Amino acid sequence: MTNGELLITPPEVGHCDACEQVLRELPEWFGLEDSLMEYVEAAKSTPTLLAMEGENVLGFLMIKRHFPESAEVACIGLLPSHHRRGIGRLMQGAAEKWLRADGCRYLQVKTLAEAANSESYALTRKFYEAMGFSRLEVHPDLWQKWNPCLVFVKALTPESGARQE
Ligand SMILES: CC(C)(COP(=O)(O)OP(=O)(O)OC[C@H]1O[C@@H](n2cnc3c(N)ncnc32)[C@H](O)[C@@H]1OP(=O)(O)O)[C@@H](O)C(=O)NCCC(=O)NCCS
Repeated sequence: MTNGELLITPPEVGHCDACEQVLRELPEWFGLEDSLMEYVEAAKSTPTLLAMEGENVLGFLMIKRHFPESAEVACIGLLPSHHRRGIGRLMQGAAEKWLRADGCRYLQVKTLAEAANSESYALTRKFYEAMGFSRLEVHPDLWQKWNPCLVFVKALTPESGARQE
């Protein structure tokens, strides 16, 4: 899918370097080295789509398929200089289109819950809400006590597609 100079690539495994490059530019979200490297490692075997401008990787979205009918946005990131230009929406829309075409009906994403009082993750939650996700449950102990996990969920009906323009 193209939008001017911007290309959203189909999801493929093995984009470790691209993911690491973007994650390292997002220390307010991915400041813990171990967890950053877990995402990089996961990219080896997790389908990941990229937002590219020419040769440059601007962002990525990693898709974990749990069951034929359900999937998870395992990680999403975009270089800060490109935030709020609609690229996150484009990546989300492309991921949902791909999943719907493959029969997937439910999508979840895990993020930091309100109780952690993070200004950065408050913006992340606004993004997911704008993408049509609803809050499903908080898991206080899934990660660490100071890192409460909020699960967002979304049904992938034909009408629920994230706008891609
Ligand atoms: C989450 C992220 C990929 C969103 O990408 P983006 O291109 O900036 O988002 P978009 O421009 O497509 O925004 C789509 C909508 O989400 C909402 N939104 C996104 N960023 C927002 C912000 N900073 N404040 C308020 N609303 C926001 C808006 O409703 C926006 O629509 P609008 O611009 O028409 O009002 C990007 O902000 C990012 O990389 N964040 C840091 C990493 C991160 O949070 N990863 C997830 C960890 S769980």
